Parts: sequence; C-alpha cells; structure tokens
Amino acid sequence: MRLAVFVSGKGTNLLNIIRKGKDGFLASEVKLVVSDRDCEAVESSERAGIRTRVADPKRYPSEMEFGSELLDLLKNTETDFIVLAGFLKKIPDVVIRNYANRIINIHPALLPSFGGKGMYGMRVHQAVLDYGCKVSGATVHIVDVEYDHGPIVVQKCVPVYSNDTADSLASRVHQLEYELLPEAIRLFENGHVKIEGRKVIIRTEGSDKK
Ligand code: GAR
Repeated sequence: MRLAVFVSGKGTNLLNIIRKGKDGFLASEVKLVVSDRDCEAVESSERAGIRTRVADPKRYPSEMEFGSELLDLLKNTETDFIVLAGFLKKIPDVVIRNYANRIINIHPALLPSFGGKGMYGMRVHQAVLDYGCKVSGATVHIVDVEYDHGPIVVQKCVPVYSNDTADSLASRVHQLEYELLPEAIRLFENGHVKIEGRKVIIRTEGSDKK
C-alpha cells in the first residue's frame, strides 16, 4: 500500500513504520507525511526524503476547504491508506468519506476508556494513573467522524505499576505501539480485515477471529 502518515509530534511511530518498511516487515511504503504544525516528525520525514506537507486547519476558511486540499494531495500521491500516528486534529469528513475504512488511528489507551476530544499524549496517561487503573494499553481503530470512536482493529494491554509516572507509563505504551501499529497495517496489506458494523473480524488462514 502507498501510505500517508499524519503526525503532530515527535513522530517515533512514523519512524518505526518507515523502519518496518525497510526491514521488510511491511510491504507498504510511506509516500506522504502530513502535519498540522512544524514538529520533530516533520524534520524526521524531510530527512528521510519523504514528501511532507504542513497544513494547519485553522488557516483554512472552512473544514471543507482544508479537506479538499488534503484530498488533492492524497490523490496526487496516489495514497491508498492513511495512518494517524499522533495526529491531534480532526480529519475532515470529506476525507473520511473518500477513504472509508482506509484510515486507522493509534490511541495510547484501551478505548473506549480515556478517549475523545482533548484526550491525547500525556493527558491520557495521567488520566489512567489518576483513575487508579491496573492496566492500560494501546488501540488501533478505524477512523470515523467521531474522535476515537470507529471499530477497533487491534488492542493490547500493558500493566500499570504503583510507582508509575505519566512518563514511565507513556514509554511502556510506546513500546507496545511499535508492535501494534505495524501489525495492524500488515493485516490490511494482507486483506485480513473484514468490518461488520462495529466489529472487525481478523481473517487468518481459514478462520474468522472476532
Ligand atoms: C502516540 O502515543 C499515540 O498513541 C498518541 O500520540 C503519540 C504520538 O507519539 N496519539 C494520541 O494521543 C491520539 N489521541 P509519536 O509522535 O512519538 O509517534
């Protein structure tokens, strides 16, 4: 698949996807990186020689105009699959419609807990600790028009320890994300994902795993 990866921060998941393409775990290649701001991820992407576009939605008169510029860019780069890896802005509805079931997002907690508008990065880990959870994790889900809402593709747990800080929990979850996100992309590459309403069925040799 030709991937577009959307980012807003450090871009460690982006770099991991690029690496997984180079070492042959993924057949997909990152052809485009989109960010809403100048950030480390943009620098890494440019260093890797990937086409990179910084577009702040606030600078567009409407969501529709932002969306149609994104669509042009996605079409020009022949993008067939989109990965949100720490992208903090809403994807315009027109893009979601045109890429229905072809956009995934990674969230650093076990959805549907600790998700929704404003729940990102360290805020999520602090909320998990404040609630006293014993496990956290990461979720890869299909993107629909609501924040952190679409059908769940894969989800895994990590323990939460009593001496955890938001930083220590974040780094444990990040390690998990470096496995989970490439695994999810590979399921789509291999055509193993079937979506039935809210349920994602992972098809492996001869069997349907709900
Ligand atoms: C990741 O932990 C990702 O799950 C999270 O942002 C981080 C980006 O890290 N995404 C969200 O919080 C979205 N709600 P990275 O820039 O180092 O890949």
